[in-house]
Amino acid sequence: MYTAQMRELIKKVEATRTKRVGIQFPRMNPDERQQVLQEYHPDYRDSGFRCLALGVNKGCKVPIELADLIEAKSRLENIELDLSKIDYDVDVLIIGGGGAGAAAALEAFGQGVKVLIATKLRFGDANTMMAEGGIQAADKPNDSPAQHYLDVMGGGHYTNVPELAAALVKDAPGVIKWLNDLGVLFDKDQDGTMVTTHGGGTSRKRMHAAADYTGAEIMRVLRDEVQNQGIDVVEFSPAVDILLDEDNRAAGAVLCNLETQEYLIARAKTVIIATGGAGRLHYQGFPTSNHYGATADGLVMGYRAGAELAFADTIQYHPTGVAYPPQIFGALVTEKVRSLGATPLNIDGEQFVFHLETRDVEASAIIREIQGRNKGIETPTGVKGVWLDTPLIEIIHGEGTIEKRLPGMLRMYAKFDIDMRKEPILVYPTLHYQNGGLLIDEHGQTKVENLYVAGEAAGGIHGRNRLMGNSLLDILVFGRRAGEHAGAKSKGIKVKKLNLDHVKKYNKYLELSGIITNRVSPMVLPHYTHGRE
Ligand code: FUM
Repeated sequence: MYTAQMRELIKKVEATRTKRVGIQFPRMNPDERQQVLQEYHPDYRDSGFRCLALGVNKGCKVPIELADLIEAKSRLENIELDLSKIDYDVDVLIIGGGGAGAAAALEAFGQGVKVLIATKLRFGDANTMMAEGGIQAADKPNDSPAQHYLDVMGGGHYTNVPELAAALVKDAPGVIKWLNDLGVLFDKDQDGTMVTTHGGGTSRKRMHAAADYTGAEIMRVLRDEVQNQGIDVVEFSPAVDILLDEDNRAAGAVLCNLETQEYLIARAKTVIIATGGAGRLHYQGFPTSNHYGATADGLVMGYRAGAELAFADTIQYHPTGVAYPPQIFGALVTEKVRSLGATPLNIDGEQFVFHLETRDVEASAIIREIQGRNKGIETPTGVKGVWLDTPLIEIIHGEGTIEKRLPGMLRMYAKFDIDMRKEPILVYPTLHYQNGGLLIDEHGQTKVENLYVAGEAAGGIHGRNRLMGNSLLDILVFGRRAGEHAGAKSKGIKVKKLNLDHVKKYNKYLELSGIITNRVSPMVLPHYTHGRE
């Protein structure tokens, strides 16, 4: 429900609306983009980062909150574990029960090997479930993987690892077919053609969607498939450290049963980290669109085991998180809202940026409008936002479009008596995605033998900025690649004696680096109650 003051301001939006229909706001040129990024993107705020004091990336800049976790002690520091007592003995251990983990499990299982998914919460409770707007794939006659590749590289400021970007776009059409065959209910025209739209920075309409709950629909099908295949899943059992064997190869993980607090040993010939993102670290105090379990656990465990981080200093702030009402502050307003024509407006009802710039540029322009030009709209909690003129969607595409294409958004706002078909909504950037992660090759392998990474915990694919719809794509492309490779490779591996020597050494290096801390990591669950327990 908007306040009387906000309603007054909405009149300015209404006053300019008809004049804005059909007029395209000019896109920025490369210099303008660079300037707004440097001046307003949080990645350029030095105070948000510090350099790591130890490990493979010693001297590299990462967000302070992540550095604090990387430079913390293992949860196992003072725990005596009998590593010869094996609780789970499998060929492929997958850590994480989101889309990447499920896709990896299906492909590994297809290799005829024994697979276990160990997941922190329930199977499927992950960022995949919360993905809204769509998944990219160049499968229309006017498009090609090469065209998609150029967009991916351009969006990433040409910093992406080229082989990873190429793998992403090459596998994309096959991934859509795989999902469709498995039963994902994509939006289709009467004749069965998939409906596709633009995202920020795309040169073709290649966003495939299931309304505005694409991730939930994909996760529904993947989870069913894993269960139908009879793949083992252990829930509420996060991994807390990777196990190595005598040859320093990844050979399993220590799991923690969240109910009993018991530590369990999972031995495996290959290990896939698919633990997702880090939004719940709330970098630079930002709200987040992320799932409750997004606490960077995989980055911490993988780094401690010797895997390298790439692009860990680049974070994605989704331009449109909810600024109001406060009960859903930071929740995602899918980019599909802008794909369908809604435009960002300032307090005077004026558009100030093309609505489909790449995410980093769009977010920076919104921050500039509020902080640099003082043209934001203040909400009763003091948070400022800009309008997103959603009623334009119904004007452009016809009445009923929002109900059909954005039912999740419509319901979310309706709960607070805001009808986005008739009234604009208020948005502000929200912490959405880690552009980087643990560096992988085309098979999802890290430089630690037998350790793989897939999904948001992996780094290199998107360079310094990811485009919309390439995350649902990458979890599936690299989940499947990692699963297939790890499954096949596991057949030729004999695991030697397990150890946690690298963890002991890491704790020693912390001391030698002068880091005195009581912090332990991985975080596992966010610390919202700290100081109030
Ligand atoms: O805006 C969105 O729906 C988010 C999509 C993505 O991060 O790919």
